[in-house]
Amino acid sequence: MNEKSILDYETVELDIDNNALVIIDQTKLPGKIEIISLKTGQEIWDAIYLLKVRGAPAIGVAAAMGLYVLAAQIDTDDNDLFFEKLRENRDFLNSARPTAVNLSWALNRMYRLAESMENEPVSAIVEALKQEAIKIKEEDIAVCKAIGENGLTLVKPGDGILTHCNAGQLATCKYGTATAPIYLGYERGYNFKVFADETRPLLQGARLTAFELHSAGVDVTLICDNMSATVMKQGKINAVFVGCDRVAANGDTANKIGTSVVATVANYYNVPVYICAPTSTIDLDTATGAEIKIEQRPDSEVTEMWYKERMAPEGVKVFNPAFDVTDHNLIAGIVTENGIAYEPYTESLREMVMKVKGK
Ligand code: MRU
Repeated sequence: MNEKSILDYETVELDIDNNALVIIDQTKLPGKIEIISLKTGQEIWDAIYLLKVRGAPAIGVAAAMGLYVLAAQIDTDDNDLFFEKLRENRDFLNSARPTAVNLSWALNRMYRLAESMENEPVSAIVEALKQEAIKIKEEDIAVCKAIGENGLTLVKPGDGILTHCNAGQLATCKYGTATAPIYLGYERGYNFKVFADETRPLLQGARLTAFELHSAGVDVTLICDNMSATVMKQGKINAVFVGCDRVAANGDTANKIGTSVVATVANYYNVPVYICAPTSTIDLDTATGAEIKIEQRPDSEVTEMWYKERMAPEGVKVFNPAFDVTDHNLIAGIVTENGIAYEPYTESLREMVMKVKGK
């Protein structure tokens, strides 16, 4: 009998019977696949902050489901009181991480739906929130598949693809964003050679991307973050595919720290850099990357986390931004579910977003 692979587990799930948010604890991967059930606001907030669930789209789905779980616990028939508590929960979950716009996107979408029913019974509003959270997850799967189809038009069988961090199934509900063309290509016999950056300091590339691609049978090679120039110089890379946490209106893109290094090196070696982004990650209210808030994380992630013993001198200064911004002029295209946006991004990104609104 075949053993269950990591891809057979749901990244994020709603346990309706027990009113809980269920996730894979990604901090334990790849050593242990542990499924955890979250019921309180603090548990859900911690899971997002501590990266038990991470990756922009997965954070959005988890927050939507989490908001429903909390809404179902609000014990009142009074609409004013219900909305006061709902807003409290929304704002609390939204404070867990600042950079991925999908967090506020999903929470605001849930809240707006509730608001549109403000005079209906609380029980009806709660039921609608449940359905909306389920819909956000279903949409994520369809969106990722469409990103995969669009991304696949940019590469050919046998190509070498480099990716950074984890924009895989573990960062979404299925397929991933940057990995979607890789999974679809794999199903169709494209034989891609994938190179996964380990992604210091939290090793999402080593622990998650290498794990899920290897489990799927994809030809994946793990490299350290400082090896991208070597593989590009050796002609092993035909395209870079990465995910993102927020795309500004001008195409500047925030993604895991180190993405802009890869993009700068890729431009030197004439390797195209494609950003894979659901339209929910495009933030037209943010004009340029300079306005994107970059999350700063604890020093211990750099000095000791994942090591058996501390690997840096006690008391040394540490700088640990979790994301960086890749300038739009380093990006060859932004692959969305509605097509591929090219320069000038101020126009093409708006078009991609309008296609959703016009649906
Ligand atoms: O800190 P993380 O692990 O949440 O960072 C994740 C990334 O940077 C991903 O590339 C991004 O969220 C896109 S996921 C499809």
